[in-house]
Amino acid sequence: MSINPQTINWNSLGFDFIETKTMFKANCKQNGLWEDGSLEPVGTISLSPAAGVLNYGQGVFEGMKAYRTSKNRIVLFRPEMNAKRFSVSLKRLCMPEMEVDYFLNAVMKTVYDNIDYVPPFGLGSLYIRPIAWGTAPTLGVKPAEEYTFMIYVCPVGPYFKGNIKPLNLKVSYNYHRAAPKGTGNVKAIGNYSASLYPLSLAKNDGFDEVIYLNAGDENLVEEVGSANLFALRGNVLKTPQLAGSILPGITRNSVLTIAKEKLGLEIRETDLTLSELLSADEVFCTGTAVVVTPVGKITHNTDVYTINNNSMGPITEKLRSTMLGIQREEAEDSFSWLHEVMSSD
Ligand SMILES: Cc1ncc(COP(=O)(O)O)c(C=O)c1O
Repeated sequence: MSINPQTINWNSLGFDFIETKTMFKANCKQNGLWEDGSLEPVGTISLSPAAGVLNYGQGVFEGMKAYRTSKNRIVLFRPEMNAKRFSVSLKRLCMPEMEVDYFLNAVMKTVYDNIDYVPPFGLGSLYIRPIAWGTAPTLGVKPAEEYTFMIYVCPVGPYFKGNIKPLNLKVSYNYHRAAPKGTGNVKAIGNYSASLYPLSLAKNDGFDEVIYLNAGDENLVEEVGSANLFALRGNVLKTPQLAGSILPGITRNSVLTIAKEKLGLEIRETDLTLSELLSADEVFCTGTAVVVTPVGKITHNTDVYTINNNSMGPITEKLRSTMLGIQREEAEDSFSWLHEVMSSD
């Protein structure tokens, strides 16, 4: 049942699913074009027990947000990058690709129809979840004959309420997130199901998340379960290069641009070794959810490394405030990253 937006307590939003007014739905045959699609009331869906997604994990998704800004506009942040990444994910999972404009129109339509669920400025955002999966029954291991694309939205609170707490991470030796030439560079649903067990073990031990190592060379770090990783030493900002097993984060790309163009840092997309990470001046994670969040402690085997006295370093702070300033329209959108859904009039 959809929740009446007037009954939502905007101050207590977390990151939990609540039903809004409508969701977008479209279908597509294998090797076909995505049909026009339409909005329908949010509710449950029915699926064949033999659906490709249930049996062989043929599904991909995106994660993005609509923000209410200080100018009372509602905007998306670089949504064309989500559109392109979605299509790359679809192709990798043997599903019909999608035009950027088709994806953007569907996102705009869904957000616009659910505009009353966008939280007030400063109290959160409207999380947008585009997702596509193999619908047709598929008994043998092969691509499904038919696919479904849906977009649902959900108001969510800010990742941090109040002060930012630097993350406490653990280096994972028992589990890898993604293999070279696997599906780590796309948002395949199976990447996330595989991460649940290592994440829950880490959480049971009091860690916030896991740092995954390169499956081919465990001296190299890759990323965190759902965020990219950066290490600063002096004037040099390093992040692991996109060599196939790392998700090309949109926040990662934006932070690299800001670091180079606005902060004058030397940026390097390259191998990032464990020892470079553990001896960095500042370490931080980037992602749609965390924006830019400092890492304060890293546990490697039984050793605990404290980064920048377990507090947010000055460069992390500057990158975070610049990103938020653009998203909130408190700073100039000098790279034209904002995409308007609704004006302030
Ligand atoms: C594995 C992984 N890495 C990094 C990111 C950060 O990507 P973005 O900045 O596009 O949210 C995400 C989130 O989507 C993710 O799931």
